[in-house]
Amino acid sequence: MTAKRVLVAYGSRHGATAGIADEIGRTLREDGFDAVVLPADTVTDVSGYQGVVLGGALYAGRWNGKARRCARRNAEQLREKPLWLFSSGPVDDSAEQHDIPPVHGVARRMKNLGAREHITFGGAVTGDTAGSIARSMVRHGKGGDFRNPARIHAWAHHIGTELDAGS
Ligand SMILES: Cc1cc2nc3c(=O)[nH]c(=O)nc-3n(C[C@H](O)[C@H](O)[C@H](O)COP(=O)(O)O)c2cc1C
Repeated sequence: MTAKRVLVAYGSRHGATAGIADEIGRTLREDGFDAVVLPADTVTDVSGYQGVVLGGALYAGRWNGKARRCARRNAEQLREKPLWLFSSGPVDDSAEQHDIPPVHGVARRMKNLGAREHITFGGAVTGDTAGSIARSMVRHGKGGDFRNPARIHAWAHHIGTELDAGS
């Protein structure tokens, strides 16, 4: 039997969300899927995938524009697929403490696309993150890398289980 193809697409400004997408892709490959990880702005056709995971960084309460446009551009096909959404945001451990619901725009998209689930992962703002706000956050001790590989791995594994169940 050929492995199911899964797309993991991400909208990232400074790389933290790309790292989460890579981790999801790696886990799905370990679980036997043919997982492809792509920047959201390069995705123009999802017809060749049996499942899609789409994630975006949060900036000022909004999902990254590349993730938003990817969702809009591919909406028709995405409605026909098993779809999971994620956000990368809080630069503290709040995402570990409790489930953080999707921001308004993402909640609307979830409904519109019939996405199965959404999860918010902790994000990262570090000394390598470009931009004056990021620099100021780090200077004032409000930065850090709050991505949790174990939590990302567990969610990706759960997606793999659902995809397997749908075969
Ligand atoms: C200017 C700025 C605004 C941000 N706004 C939010 C926000 O509204 N909500 C949130 O949870 N995280 C916010 N963050 C944290 C980012 O979402 C987090 O660092 C994310 O992991 C960055 O992903 P990226 O490197 O893929 O762009 C903000 C970070 C910066 C630098």
